[in-house]
Amino acid sequence: KQFDITIPASSANMGPGFDSAGLALNRFLTLHVTEQDNWEIEHHSHLLPSFTNYHDHFIYQIAKQTAQRHQKALPGCKVIVDSGIPLARGLGSSASAALAGIELANQLCGLGLTSEQKLEYGTDIEGHPDNVASALFGGIVVTATTQNNKVEYVQIPTLDLDVVVYIPNVELKTETARQLLPSNLTRKSATTASAISNLMLASLLSGNFHLAGKMMESDLFHEPYRADLIPNYHSIKQEAKKVNAYGTVISGAGPTMISFVPKGEGTMISKHMTAKLSDYEVVALKIDQNGLQ
Ligand code: HSE
Repeated sequence: KQFDITIPASSANMGPGFDSAGLALNRFLTLHVTEQDNWEIEHHSHLLPSFTNYHDHFIYQIAKQTAQRHQKALPGCKVIVDSGIPLARGLGSSASAALAGIELANQLCGLGLTSEQKLEYGTDIEGHPDNVASALFGGIVVTATTQNNKVEYVQIPTLDLDVVVYIPNVELKTETARQLLPSNLTRKSATTASAISNLMLASLLSGNFHLAGKMMESDLFHEPYRADLIPNYHSIKQEAKKVNAYGTVISGAGPTMISFVPKGEGTMISKHMTAKLSDYEVVALKIDQNGLQ
């Protein structure tokens, strides 16, 4: 038996939607799976890290762990991995790989997992649901982790938006970028930060993209603490604004930045920005609406 698993890249936070909002992007991690007796993994993309033994491979480990959760042994297979998602750049490569492992076990062991279970397992691995939820469902997804650790979510309707991403030639570990965040906010700043996030999402939903972009750039949860780590943080925002980007923020924990732009204008904006940024990959992307397939 042969099958494929495809999972999109994702961009978390959208500014103030820290650890809550995210969107799926049209760059993909793909697994071509052939069932066989023994385990074998091959990489077909220069964006993937090297590995020596399949036992050490993240996707294998997650698949095994998922099978064990359901008291199943993981059958053998050959997995060819292809990827268009750069690592440690803030584009959700680890969430996509976690979902790949979960779905691989789901299919190989016939677990019949629901979307809610995949979301729960992926969130356990990642520690926050934003990348996992958007890569799983596609589109823009807003989540909240409630007191009993259950993840509630809503996929918001398709919007007339494209994005441009600015991927620098450096890696940044999420863990490093999370260590910079304060462990407490005063009630006053928490209230303001939450109001900014609410208004950002409400303006997106009501089609007021200018106000949404302004609120994206007013985040108080993480951007102020991470700005110094992100190359060209201020100049990218300023330059993108000149060419009509609604808002430009850190993608996930960085170092990639992302502009939300009017539908159809991504290519023009990416051309302008490419000329301003050396050592960057600047790409106009679409919001992927399919999620895990
Ligand atoms: N919400 C997460 C963060 C996304 O900003 O740290 C990165 O994994």
